[in-house]
Amino acid sequence: MTVFVTDITERRHFEEELSRQNSQLESVHQISIGLTAELNLEKLLESITTHASELLKSSGGGIYLYREDQDKLELAVAIGTQKPIAGNFLERGEGLSGKVWELGKPLTVEDYETWEGRAAVYNSISFKAVVGAPILRGEEFLGVLTLMAEPPKKFSQHDVALLELYAVHAAVAIHNARLYQNVQSRMNQLEMLYETSKTLSGQYDLNVLLQSIVDSARKLLRSSTSGMYLVSNNALRLTKVTEAGYPVGAYLRFGEGMAGRVAQTRLPIRVDDYSSWEGHASIYNGIPIHAVIEVPMLYKGELIGVLTADESGSSKRKFTEEDEHLLTLFASQAAGAIHSARLYSETRRRAQEFAGLYETTLDLSLQLDLSTVLTKIIERAKKLLDALCSSISLYDPTQANLELVASIGPDLPPGTRRQLGDGLAGRVAESRSPIIIDDYSKWEFRSTLYEKIPYGSMLGVPLLYSGHLLGVLDVAEIKPSSRVFNEADMRLLSLFAGQAASAIENAKLFDSLQNSHEELSLAYDATIEGWSRAMDLRDKETEGHTQRLVKRTLEIAERMGISQQELIHVRRNVLLHDMGKLGVPDHILLKPGALSAEEWKIMRQHPTHAYEMLSFVEYLKPALDIPYCHHEKWDGSGYPRGLKEKNIPLVARLFAVVDVWDALRSDRPYRPAWSVEQTRAYIIEQSGRQFDPHVVEIFLKMLDESPDPL
Ligand code: C2E
Ligand code: SIN
Ligand code: SIN
Ligand code: FE
Ligand code: FE
Repeated sequence: MTVFVTDITERRHFEEELSRQNSQLESVHQISIGLTAELNLEKLLESITTHASELLKSSGGGIYLYREDQDKLELAVAIGTQKPIAGNFLERGEGLSGKVWELGKPLTVEDYETWEGRAAVYNSISFKAVVGAPILRGEEFLGVLTLMAEPPKKFSQHDVALLELYAVHAAVAIHNARLYQNVQSRMNQLEMLYETSKTLSGQYDLNVLLQSIVDSARKLLRSSTSGMYLVSNNALRLTKVTEAGYPVGAYLRFGEGMAGRVAQTRLPIRVDDYSSWEGHASIYNGIPIHAVIEVPMLYKGELIGVLTADESGSSKRKFTEEDEHLLTLFASQAAGAIHSARLYSETRRRAQEFAGLYETTLDLSLQLDLSTVLTKIIERAKKLLDALCSSISLYDPTQANLELVASIGPDLPPGTRRQLGDGLAGRVAESRSPIIIDDYSKWEFRSTLYEKIPYGSMLGVPLLYSGHLLGVLDVAEIKPSSRVFNEADMRLLSLFAGQAASAIENAKLFDSLQNSHEELSLAYDATIEGWSRAMDLRDKETEGHTQRLVKRTLEIAERMGISQQELIHVRRNVLLHDMGKLGVPDHILLKPGALSAEEWKIMRQHPTHAYEMLSFVEYLKPALDIPYCHHEKWDGSGYPRGLKEKNIPLVARLFAVVDVWDALRSDRPYRPAWSVEQTRAYIIEQSGRQFDPHVVEIFLKMLDESPDPL
């Protein structure tokens, strides 16, 4: 500044001016020290403006900050005037601040109202003197600091220079505050990240977890939407989206769309306008998506999915590199949380499986029929391992090979035999240890027999019973299933195989008992039939008498609801009914006339003889009721014990009617056969006396439906 000194007054004035200027400079210095201490950007801007206004004795002022994203100035603070703040933007060259930006130098006007360069936003506001200085940090333009003054005050060259200098200090303070704010907001974000992952890692319900991940990601990036793809069947499945209207459940192949590329490269991708992006996936057609950022979710190098954030609707926002870092960091936390949650639900599933295993075992141990047991085992194994197929091969020690006995899913026909060492079952049998195969079609030891069946992963375990190989149990996947059985599956199936083996062993044992029992039964029955025929011969019974009794008795027994199991015994009962007559001498049994009292006494002993003869034979005990009780009468007047009504065994009550009917309809040495009518009348007459009335009723009905063949 050049000043000519003409007189003392002027000199004093000059000295005063100089000291004022010095003190102003000192103020600028002091203020700037104060300013740099203020780290809150809003407060700082306000304090910069206030101090500048005081310094230059102005009536008000404000700061326009440069918005890089819009390439415009935005009014950030205004004091002492009624400047409209919200949405107050100036283009480069617009108004005083726009000009300052354009020139890169301070500018002052004396009467803004009449100034041709004034900005339209200020048409209704009257400013007189206005000065503006660029806020520059080196080359970097941060904004414009403006001041206004009421007349008569005008801004001098000195004021302009002072503001210019002041604005440089302000630039430093603003830069620092912004840096700090960045750090601060990053710290806040990190804190939120930490909080989020804390909630996440405590969150084990997978569905709730996935929802909370996308919700958190959306909040973290302050984006319109966040979504997540999970890797599934070698593709990406859009699993969760914070907003409605997205194609949740849709698949993208690896390489397809943004997520597909992220999955393939395992690198984040940012796109500013998705709707016009060349890699646009068709599943998003019709959704107005603009900026998108997608990052891989990796857990220990394994791709779990892809996390996304996008801007939709009218948002012009673009994602930055910092957004990318943040989302990447979050995605790795999320991947860890998903991994834990999956592990947990896997563990829980196993626990449930073990409960299932227990029930299964209980049920299996009740099964005694071998083929039922085998079917149940493969059904249970399939369910337990959630597999597509299961089969059992049994080891045949006599031929030293394996026979396929039961299977679910595509397989060879049951009965197919294979040598030990052939294929999975053959190898499991040979080694007596479990084998897991990731992909059967690529397995070097696969059996040629199975070439045509597209097995995927397989798991085979030996069925061992106290060290003996009973066979091999396996479960299998069919392609395109990509599920691979793991160690946990193997332990579970081995455990189950232990139970299965003992069920098989029991059933085999029972089967062989059953077989020998059946053989014996056949022998017994043949014997009984032989006795029965011998007795008929001795009795001079007409041909087929006993067979008729058997047929009739079984018929009525069935009608009365006697079980199939018991009918076997009913039959034997009938065959043996007059067994006791073996103890009656020929001269009595075959006597052509009426019996004497003495003879009758002997004759009436025949049921007791039967009891005495048969009760020693264990297996004939259930065949005693008829031989012992067929001459008891409903009214208690029968023999040998005089039993009454329901004290007489049911089968004996049935038989009594059938026997008397047949006896009366047949010729006897002591009388000729009776007619049907006569016999029928007799049976009816004896109902409630000799016979159980209910039995008589059913017997007569039966006769109507299938008349007596005699
Ligand atoms: P059975 O000949 O097989 O007769 C079985 C039952 O049929 C008799 O049991 C009786 O309830 C009935 N029944 C048979 N024939 C007649 C009959 O002519 N009139 C009537 N009302 N009922 C008849 P029961 O009476 O306890 O006799 C048991 C067995 O004793 C008979 O078996 C038969 O072997 C023998 N028996 C009974 N009565 C005579 C008889 O008069 N002479 C001889 N030789 N044997 C007789
Ligand atoms: C302008 O820069 O055109 C408006 C003046 C002010 O900032 O008050
Ligand atoms: C099977 O066991 O079901 C077929 C696979 C094999 O044993 O090789
Ligand atoms: Fe008898
Ligand atoms: Fe008889």
